[in-house]
Amino acid sequence: MSLKRNVLDLRKRKELALQGGGEEAIKKQVAMGKLTARERIEAILDKNSFHEYDMFVEHQAKDFDMDKKVFHGDGVIIGTGTIYGEPVCIYAQDFTVAGGSLGLMHARKISKIMDHALKMHVPLIGINDSGGARIQEGVDSLAGYGDIFFRNTQASGVIPQLSVILGPCAGGAVYSPALTDFVFVVDNISKMFITGPEVVKTVLGEEISMEELGGARVHSEISGNAHFFALTEQECFEQIKKLLMLIPWSNRVKARPFPPKEPKSMYNIEKIVPADPTQPYDVRDVIKAVADDSDFLEVQQAFARNIVVGFGRIQGETIGFVANQPCVMAGVLDCDSSDKAGRFIRFCDAFNIPIVTFEDMPGYLPGAEQEYAGVIRHGAKVLYAYSEATVPKITVILRKAYGGGYIAMNSRHLKADFMFAWPTAEIAVMGPEGAANIIFRKEIISSPNPEETRKAKVAEYRAKFANPYVAASKGYIDSVIEPAETRKILIHSIEVSSNKSVITPAKKHGIPPF
Ligand code: HXC
Repeated sequence: MSLKRNVLDLRKRKELALQGGGEEAIKKQVAMGKLTARERIEAILDKNSFHEYDMFVEHQAKDFDMDKKVFHGDGVIIGTGTIYGEPVCIYAQDFTVAGGSLGLMHARKISKIMDHALKMHVPLIGINDSGGARIQEGVDSLAGYGDIFFRNTQASGVIPQLSVILGPCAGGAVYSPALTDFVFVVDNISKMFITGPEVVKTVLGEEISMEELGGARVHSEISGNAHFFALTEQECFEQIKKLLMLIPWSNRVKARPFPPKEPKSMYNIEKIVPADPTQPYDVRDVIKAVADDSDFLEVQQAFARNIVVGFGRIQGETIGFVANQPCVMAGVLDCDSSDKAGRFIRFCDAFNIPIVTFEDMPGYLPGAEQEYAGVIRHGAKVLYAYSEATVPKITVILRKAYGGGYIAMNSRHLKADFMFAWPTAEIAVMGPEGAANIIFRKEIISSPNPEETRKAKVAEYRAKFANPYVAASKGYIDSVIEPAETRKILIHSIEVSSNKSVITPAKKHGIPPF
């Protein structure tokens, strides 16, 4: 064959492969409000930057008449491209081909691009849209999942791994996203579950829709499996790019620097926090009052809202913010908020992102429900994550820092580099009401007017202990600062921590309270 004919043959083969599952299947995909796998890749990457590999890979299965079936690309598209001109690795499952189900060759393709991402130290973006393990391929499909999970784990903490759920992600498929750093979901499109509604009905006799079982809202608000929620695929792609703009692209590099920008004047730090410790406020306003351009990308916004985590910049450098949220359950730590904060802190530490903590909380949430749910083991995750983190760690106590909360929220004792407190801070074993009721109990009951005595004792306790100066007198707090000074002091603290180095005890790895 002449070169020209060879090239024409190649083009024909490519054209065929590009048809995916064919016109009908693509129509069905579009009718569900979904883009096709290639459209998704193109929408995320820089224009015309995508290079596809393994386009001609075919399944090798023979059982169940599989040898008579052609699955173009075996239902997944893999390749490399750029975002902001920098390389990334990407794969997208093609639901139009055998429901994006994962067989041996499909899994090998994903493993190949994962190996490439890890070797090249570039982010990995995985778009999931699949019926799960390809039933006809039996144990080969299960093996394929195992290979992917192993690679997810190897890559963890080395390169950022982003999972985008744009269709079903059923059965074993859910565990790859669960092992990655950030999971993106889209309303009415994403469906994630271990067992589908039919299995639930068979086993438990319960009728439940796919949406109620594992829709985007369920995972954003209740289970906490998702980190970013969007109303449309386009909005989701913008979130991906925004996140990639903020985080480092491997554990060997820093996040891209940005020109510093002052916070917006509408966030007046002196007017956000009410002096009355019982009054709520939105701590995100405090973050926006110190962050460059008041820009803050919140992670897991709708889950465990009693704690706020996310990324912003201070003087051009990416910062991980962790803050108690006084307007939700007074900002207490409970099982879910501990999981949320612990995981976020570990991401920041793995990718060398300094952590700024804003503290205002009455402690861990009491009660049988939390105890039964394991608040001891979950709460320990925050202690572990902060203690383990060796990135610059700065805490600002805004108001309440009581009990276990004081210790857990990046205290000096967990090796915070800088501890600051506003003059409104109350640092004590517990709140003045509870404390006075316990230590002055006998005095209160035996007095002629117990209520009056109780009030007087609460006031006495508050005056003596519920302030930042006792902790400051012991050096636990480095400086009591005026709210208006906060940004300036954070800029300085981050600047002087840029060469931080810590020697940790030699070990294979620790055993965090999973
Ligand atoms: C093979 C599959 C498939 C699968 C879908 N298809 N899932 N083929 N293996 N797992 C095929 C269908 O046969 C169909 O082929 C095409 O994909 C589109 O599927 P539909 O059912 O027509 O689409 P839809 O109505 O949109 O429903 C999508 C779905 C449903 C909800 C995902 O297909 C479904 O429930 N699939 C099974 C999901 C599941 O239980 N997976 C778990 C597998 S076990 P045709 O030729 O008709 O177009 C597992 C364990 C792994 O994953 C554990 C590892 C640790």
